[in-house]
Amino acid sequence: MASKAWWAGAAIYQVYVRSFADGNGDGIGDLTGLRSRLPYLARLGVDAVWVTPWYPSPMADGGYDVADYRAIDPVFGTLAEAEKLIEEAHSVGIRVIIDVVPNHCSTEHAWFRAALAAGPGSPERARFVFRDGIGDGEQPPNGWESIFGGPAWTRVHDGQWYLHLFDPGQPDFDWHNPDVRAEFEDVLRFWLDRGVDGIRIDSAAVLIKDFGLAHPECYTDRDGIHEIYRGWRRVADAYPGDRALIGELWLPDHERFAAYLRPDELHTAFNFQFLSSAWDAAALRSCVDATLAAHAPVDANATWVLSNHDVTRHVTRYGRDDTTFAFGGKLFGAPTDLALGTRRARAAALLAMALPGGVYVYQGEELGLPEVETEIPNHLRQDPFYRRSGYTDPGRDGCRVPIPWAGTAPPFGFSPPDAAADPWLPQPPSWAAYTAAAEDGDPESMLTLYRTALRIRRSHPALGAGGIRWRPERAERAPAGSDAELAFDRDPGFACVANLSTRPIDLPPHEEVILASIPLEDGRLPVDAVVWLKT
Ligand code: NOJ
Ligand code: CA
Repeated sequence: MASKAWWAGAAIYQVYVRSFADGNGDGIGDLTGLRSRLPYLARLGVDAVWVTPWYPSPMADGGYDVADYRAIDPVFGTLAEAEKLIEEAHSVGIRVIIDVVPNHCSTEHAWFRAALAAGPGSPERARFVFRDGIGDGEQPPNGWESIFGGPAWTRVHDGQWYLHLFDPGQPDFDWHNPDVRAEFEDVLRFWLDRGVDGIRIDSAAVLIKDFGLAHPECYTDRDGIHEIYRGWRRVADAYPGDRALIGELWLPDHERFAAYLRPDELHTAFNFQFLSSAWDAAALRSCVDATLAAHAPVDANATWVLSNHDVTRHVTRYGRDDTTFAFGGKLFGAPTDLALGTRRARAAALLAMALPGGVYVYQGEELGLPEVETEIPNHLRQDPFYRRSGYTDPGRDGCRVPIPWAGTAPPFGFSPPDAAADPWLPQPPSWAAYTAAAEDGDPESMLTLYRTALRIRRSHPALGAGGIRWRPERAERAPAGSDAELAFDRDPGFACVANLSTRPIDLPPHEEVILASIPLEDGRLPVDAVVWLKT
C-alpha cells in the first residue's frame, strides 16, 4: 500500500514567481506579491505551493541559473521574507516546496568564478566539466548540443571549454566530485532547516555524464545517479515531518522512471507522459495503466500534470488537431479552437483530479489561461530557447505571461495601481475575461470548477492516494466500434466517467452526480466532458 504521507495525494500549485504577483510595482512578481495571494491559494484549496527558483541569478534562464543557493534574489525579496512566506503559508495550511537546481549553477556562482580564476587542472575547475578542445584546441571537446540549441561547450579565456547542457550561463557541475555532493546535501539542510516541506529537483535525470556514449544517452539517466539521491533521502529522512523529494524526470521508459522512486530514493516525480499525451481515450488509458503499473512495485504514488512553465498551456494544446506536446515540435500559431480546448481542459482537470496520487496545478490553469503566442512581440521574448534555437523555437515565454488578477486592462492587478513598470511580458487585452476577479463567483468559470473540484477532492475519502478499477462495460456502452470512454471506480462509492467519443453517452447507474465538467445533456454525458458520480 503506497504511502499516505501528505504529498501522496496532494494538490500542488506551481508558482512561477516572476509571473505570479508583483508587490512593489517593478513589473516582476515577487515574494511580497506571493504572500499577498496566500488567501487566494487557501481558498482555491491546494495543499502545497511549489515556488520556482528564487535565488540570486543573472536570469539567463529565468532563475534556473543560480548564483547563490542560500539567498533570495533582491528582485524577489529577502531571505527573511522567504522565511516569513514559509511561516505564513503554514499558518493557512499550505506546505512549501522549493526548487533546487543541482545539474548546473550560474557563471556568476562563486565556485565558477573561482574555477575561471584558478586555471586548468585546479581543484576549483574539477567541480565543473572543463576539457581541452580538440584539434588545435579551437574545436569543442565533442559534438554535444545544448538542450536549448547550439553547442553544449563554451570556451574560456585560457582556451579550455566548459560543458553546459543548457545555456552558456548555466555551467554543469561534475557530480563525480565529492565537493559537489557535500555542497548540495548542505544546501538541502539549509532549506529544510527553514521549514520547507519539499524539494523539487530540477533536471533530476541528467547529473551524471558518460563521455563514452553518443548524445544524448551520454547524460540521460546514467545508473550512477541513484547513489546521489540515496544520499539526499538520508538527509531528508533526518528531519521531522514528511519532507518530500520530487524529481523532474523526463524519461520515456516507465520502469527507468520508477527506479528513482525506490523506497530509499525520491518520494515522487512529475508524470510528463500524461502531459504529453494526446486527448484520446486509448492514449490516456494506456498512460494511466503504464503509470500505475510502474509505480506499484516501488510502492510510490503517481502524479498527474497537465501544464507547467516549460510547455504550451493545455487549453491551447487541446484546441488543436494535434493535442500532443513535444519539445522542439511546438505547434506555435497553429489553428486553435479555444472553446474546444477550454471544454477539454475542464474535462482533463476532473480526470486528473480523480486519478490516484498527487495532482499539479500550474498557475493560471485554474483561470483557463491559453498560451500567448503571436501576441508577444519577438523583441520582448526572453527565453534562451528562442535565441539559441536560431529563432526557430518560440521558447516558453507564452506560458509565463503574468497572471491577470482583476480589472479590465493590463496589468490586470498583477502590479499595484501606481506601478513604475509594465509587466515583464505583455498581457493580451483579451485577458480581461480571465481575471480571478471576473471568474470569482461565476458558476461557469474555470476558477469555480477548480475550487469546487479541489474542495471535493480534499474531503472525499475515495480521492487522492489509492487505486482504481476500470469499468469493464466501458467498451460496450461507448458508441459502436469506438473505445472512447474512460470509466473507473474508486472506493468508497466513487466513479469517474470521461467521454472522449463523438456522441453523448449514458451515465452508468449511480446515486447522484457529484460534479460534471459541463452540464449534462438530458442526463447524458456530452462529448469532451467528465463526470464524478456517487455510486
Ligand atoms: C527544467 C526547468 O523546468 C526549465 O525551466 C529549465 O530551463 C531547465 N530545467 C534547466 O534548468
Ligand atoms: Ca516586483
